[in-house]
Amino acid sequence: MQKMNNIFLIGLMGTGKTTVGRQLARKLKMDFYDSDRVIEERTGADIPLIFEKEGEAGFRKREAAIIDELTQMDNIILATGGGAVLNPENRNHLISRGTVFYLKSSLKTLIERTSKDKNRPLLQAEEPAEVILQCLLEQRGPLYEETADYVIETANNSIHSVIQAIIKHLK
Ligand code: S3P
Repeated sequence: MQKMNNIFLIGLMGTGKTTVGRQLARKLKMDFYDSDRVIEERTGADIPLIFEKEGEAGFRKREAAIIDELTQMDNIILATGGGAVLNPENRNHLISRGTVFYLKSSLKTLIERTSKDKNRPLLQAEEPAEVILQCLLEQRGPLYEETADYVIETANNSIHSVIQAIIKHLK
């Protein structure tokens, strides 16, 4: 089956999906979407409030619906939430409807980038963020790898070089 002309970014929170996606979209003159922002626009509530009112399960349902909708578009760049790959349907939609890039970072970088974050409910638990991130990385790493067409290391690379690495794979 011919894949649509879409670029999908996956990876843990703090890997730079939104920053990279937005700049890449500008460079390639494509439309950019961030699934979390679309959920917030549609519901009028931010992600922490959705988690508070509906739990993670409620959020995941909304996320699956938005991912199904957005991945049916053509010529877009989509930054997905870090947990999007947990759902097999989401994974199938991403794999079959575009080219998937896993933005991969070291645990150290992820901790640095998310340390002051109040907008990521999964990091607002009792355990230290590094324990949570390590656990998420172990659980999700294999899912990111199996969903991705390409793995791009972001830890020691500038946004510019991450963008160049993605563009190189598109040619
Ligand atoms: C989540 C990551 C967040 C957001 C929500 C849940 C996760 O997105 O979807 O807080 O499960 O890892 P980012 O990866 O854009 O931070």
